[in-house]
Amino acid sequence: MAEDLKLATGTKQEQYKSLVPQIKALIEGEPDLIANLANVSAALKEQFNWLWVGFYLVKNNELVLGPFQGPVACTRIKKGRGVCGTSWAEKKTLIVPDVEKFPGHIACSSLSRSEIVVPIIRDGEVLGVLDVDSEEQDKFNETDQKFLEQIVDLLTF
Ligand code: SME
Repeated sequence: MAEDLKLATGTKQEQYKSLVPQIKALIEGEPDLIANLANVSAALKEQFNWLWVGFYLVKNNELVLGPFQGPVACTRIKKGRGVCGTSWAEKKTLIVPDVEKFPGHIACSSLSRSEIVVPIIRDGEVLGVLDVDSEEQDKFNETDQKFLEQIVDLLTF
């Protein structure tokens, strides 16, 4: 496909419905994981303009920073630490409406107010997480969870 994203307006649901097939087309036929994670981060950032969107990958039993869009971020997160490490340990998506109320939240950016973390699970094992941060409180809900889970399912590891 052409490497131009068609940006959608409308409800969150409408924006995801326009974006998901474009992400699918972008990564289809490209076997390189880093290239695909880079383009998925860029596509999500372009459509939603969140503060930070990107991936952490499990390497030697730690989450290590992968492709992302946004301000510089912490490079390593241990299992069970922060929102990302908790999502990994619990193998489930975490929606945090107010990061200041999440015990152990790791503040990579002082501007972050809410966050969603989606684990990437293959054969029952977490291989990484997709992390999204917003400057606004309570930015993420079940709609984000549903579509971001669909998007990470498109990735071939
Ligand atoms: N806030 C995350 C750390 C990663 S940054 O937000 C990019 C956490 O608590 O795990």
